[in-house]
Amino acid sequence: MFNSLRPRVSSIIDSNKTADTKMQEICELLKAEIPHYDWVGFYFKNGDKRELKLGPYAGTPTDHTIIPFGKGICGQVAESNQNFVVPDVQAQDNYIACSITVKAEIVVPLFINGENIGQIDIDSNTPDPFTKADETFLEFVNFEVAKIL
Ligand code: SME
Repeated sequence: MFNSLRPRVSSIIDSNKTADTKMQEICELLKAEIPHYDWVGFYFKNGDKRELKLGPYAGTPTDHTIIPFGKGICGQVAESNQNFVVPDVQAQDNYIACSITVKAEIVVPLFINGENIGQIDIDSNTPDPFTKADETFLEFVNFEVAKIL
């Protein structure tokens, strides 16, 4: 599944559209094609502030359009620069709930020239669904998106 999605992500990146539209299409593609992806979105560092701002996403609208560094899974990844896989969100103390249906989450940082400037965030309604294959695929997606930012 992930291997067949890679060229589709790349063709969106190579298309003649704005960066926001490309990211929006990637969110929609991943949500539609990957059964355990129920919310897919990008957060980016908000200027010089120590906070994340919601970018393009697919799924239920969230109240959490601004997330301070250190807060929630997303805010922790902004500081750790590392992938964060959460098999069971209820077991996390520092977690920001977006929807009561969400069981698991994965956040993968997005780097430009080695600097962590944002992240891709996936929520899943399936418990413990993420493997190393999700991490590798999402690293690829972020590598592609970094080319257009
Ligand atoms: N659950 C995230 C907040 C963002 S929503 O999942 C869209 C967190 O704990 O950082």
